[in-house]
Amino acid sequence: MLKPKLEGALNLQLNKEFYSSYLYLSMAAYFEGINLAGFANWMRVQTQEEYAHAMKFFDYIVQKGGKATLEVIAKPENSWDSPLAVYEATYEHEKFVTQSIDDLVNLAYDERDHATIGFLQWFVTEQVEEEANVTKLIDELKMVADNKTGLFMLDRELATRVFTPPPANNA
Ligand code: FEO
Repeated sequence: MLKPKLEGALNLQLNKEFYSSYLYLSMAAYFEGINLAGFANWMRVQTQEEYAHAMKFFDYIVQKGGKATLEVIAKPENSWDSPLAVYEATYEHEKFVTQSIDDLVNLAYDERDHATIGFLQWFVTEQVEEEANVTKLIDELKMVADNKTGLFMLDRELATRVFTPPPANNA
């Protein structure tokens, strides 16, 4: 049984995760458009990860006897000035998501919902990793700056990223 306030907040997060998936797909399209297939691959994997995050919320809401409610997904940006600008926007977005997860944890504490607090812990840890991954890429892009060879090497490295599905809830 989910309290209505938590059910609403979890559904809001479900929408944010779908938006994240949509945003990163838009970034993948941007990279495809400037022939950086490795960067595009990295964003395609990111899109899959966010879809999986959304589905973890979907499944949890259902498991708890709530109703997963799908809302409109906002239109993402579709143009950036440079690869660095894309990753800076990614970092800002992930910080926003981290805050959103933290707010959810606080609400779950307020509502004394221990199952939801437990469910959210995976996301708390995941956000640390997400922010760290993006920060590392921002540093690398700053190092490369306008060096085309460096960008080419980085693109080849990012082409190797593969999607690993997250563990199921309660796993
Ligand atoms: Fe679902 Fe990138 O956090």
